[in-house]
Amino acid sequence: MSINKEQIRTALTHVFHPDKETDLISLEMIQDIIVQEKYISFTLELPEKNDKLAHSLKSKCEEAIRKFVDREAVVDITTGVNISLKRKLEGEEPAEDSSQQTAEPEQLLPGVKNMIAVASGKGGVGKSTVAANLAVGLARTGARVGLLDTDIYGPSIPTLFDIHERPNITTQKKLVPIEKYGVKLVSMGFLVDTDQAMIWRGPMVTSAVKQFMQEVEWGELDYMVLDLPPGTGDIQLTLVQTVPLTGAVIVSTPQHVALDDVRKGVAMFRKVNVPVLGVIENMSWFTPDDMPEKKYYIFGKHGARELARKLEVPFLGEIPLRESIMRSSDQGDPIVHSDPGSPAAESFLEISNRVEQALIVRNREQEETEKVEIKFRP
Ligand SMILES: Nc1ncnc2c1ncn2[C@@H]1O[C@H](COP(=O)(O)OP(=O)(O)OP(=O)(O)O)[C@@H](O)[C@H]1O
Ligand SMILES: [Mg+2]
Repeated sequence: MSINKEQIRTALTHVFHPDKETDLISLEMIQDIIVQEKYISFTLELPEKNDKLAHSLKSKCEEAIRKFVDREAVVDITTGVNISLKRKLEGEEPAEDSSQQTAEPEQLLPGVKNMIAVASGKGGVGKSTVAANLAVGLARTGARVGLLDTDIYGPSIPTLFDIHERPNITTQKKLVPIEKYGVKLVSMGFLVDTDQAMIWRGPMVTSAVKQFMQEVEWGELDYMVLDLPPGTGDIQLTLVQTVPLTGAVIVSTPQHVALDDVRKGVAMFRKVNVPVLGVIENMSWFTPDDMPEKKYYIFGKHGARELARKLEVPFLGEIPLRESIMRSSDQGDPIVHSDPGSPAAESFLEISNRVEQALIVRNREQEETEKVEIKFRP
């Protein structure tokens, strides 16, 4: 009989936190369980990095799974840090009450209805390409859209939109976004020499992004798309806690190494209670421009789709690897704008549509007070 997630959860209710006399499942310290035949993987969340209990808890989890589920199970446990657990373990506020984390930033941008982060565990998977085409795709429906490049170390928007001028400043000392292809754009690359930003540390990045929220004349927006820096480290974690995100999309390529990073990405957003709207697979297959009927699955097939299913997050679609996508990006004219009828652009447009739908669902399920309106496609 094959193993299922419920069996794993039940087994882990036998593992107790030594200081709390409560099991790890009740403490919500186990996340992202994946079962593939006898291979079981999950994240063990701990309140701090290098937690002294990590080693013993991991062994106890393994033991419990072998004892209660399958003697031959192969268990792979990743440890993650969830700072809100500290309060929970110290007997104060419950971990799930992260409303406090988002309450203050909620005021940051009252004119913005939906704030979507585009993230990836790994660099170079096409996050900025997706963010740019998603923003332009949403704007094509008549929505008011902003795109903020939070990748201070490697801003892409100046290139992707071919912008080399400096933005204007209003008399109230607010920065005016540069508008192109129907999208209001702001990037650190407009303002700072990238080499200079290289020496910035995490807190400086966060405060710069906060300033980009408050000191920019964004006006009313239906969507603000945030292009995040690659990875799931401290900078990303702080960023996603600083801004009031409506949801996040995670971009991955089909290779295994990138998929492992998707899992970390999903775990990061769940940790801070930001709904993952879905996973987008980029470079799903290669289609040469002169052989448009061909599909070469050079990085494997359906990897991200499968992982999304296992992680129980929506799969938002696939984007082919095409020279035309790269060319249009290099020329500063995203394909959704430069060649909207092409199959490559269509895959981006379908994804924008699904993101819109995912936001509608997300906002419907959200509490009344935080409900936001969405513009429907005409
Ligand atoms: N589907 C695609 N087809 C062809 N080229 C692509 C595709 N997606 C991305 N690229 C190219 O791959 C390179 C990396 O893409 P991009 O900059 O969007 O990735 P990223 O994840 O934002 O990278 P970083 O982690 O450095 O921010 C770029 O040259 C881009 O034009
Ligand atoms: Mg990028």
